[in-house]
Amino acid sequence: MDLKSKIRVIEGFPKEGISFKDITTVLQDKDAFRECIYQLAEAFRNEEVDMVVGPEARGFLIGAPLAYELGVGFVPVRKPGKLPAETISFEYELEYGTDTLEIHKDAIKPGQKVLVIDDLLATGGTVHSTVKMIEELGGEVVGIGFFIELEFLNGRKLLEDYNVKSLVKY
Ligand code: PRP
Repeated sequence: MDLKSKIRVIEGFPKEGISFKDITTVLQDKDAFRECIYQLAEAFRNEEVDMVVGPEARGFLIGAPLAYELGVGFVPVRKPGKLPAETISFEYELEYGTDTLEIHKDAIKPGQKVLVIDDLLATGGTVHSTVKMIEELGGEVVGIGFFIELEFLNGRKLLEDYNVKSLVKY
């Protein structure tokens, strides 16, 4: 199946000059959704994975079903103040200002093999921060998977030490 043809592209959202990749058209199509999760599972089938970690919010939509498919647990990474138990956080630079992400301190055990999943790779800041928190907790990042990669933003550069795979490229 050509998954790219199932992604709806909306020009000028959320602001002028941005060509937004809308995955809701994939999620609402049962065959495309299954295919997306299947292809990501296949991409990492040879890795030993103990846990999938995905960042809020669209990372949940891809990461949780993938964890289910792989038969492992899922750990959410969230924006500040959302996770109820003890957390660690990571602050990262944006074009203007900074952003912070959090993960539960007890969610990853030292030595666990972790697959990081998000819907989209843009600048790489979100997943890079996620990786840093996993490593701080002693986890080993064995793979990073994206449904979509915006190659022109060079997010892969930030993740060059890792096994990065994406299904659809722009
Ligand atoms: C989007 C996307 C990725 C991130 C990619 O999430 O889902 O998580 O941006 O950008 P980056 O590679 O430059 O970090 P967004 O922050 O819009 O949040 P959402 O998933 O809650 O909509």
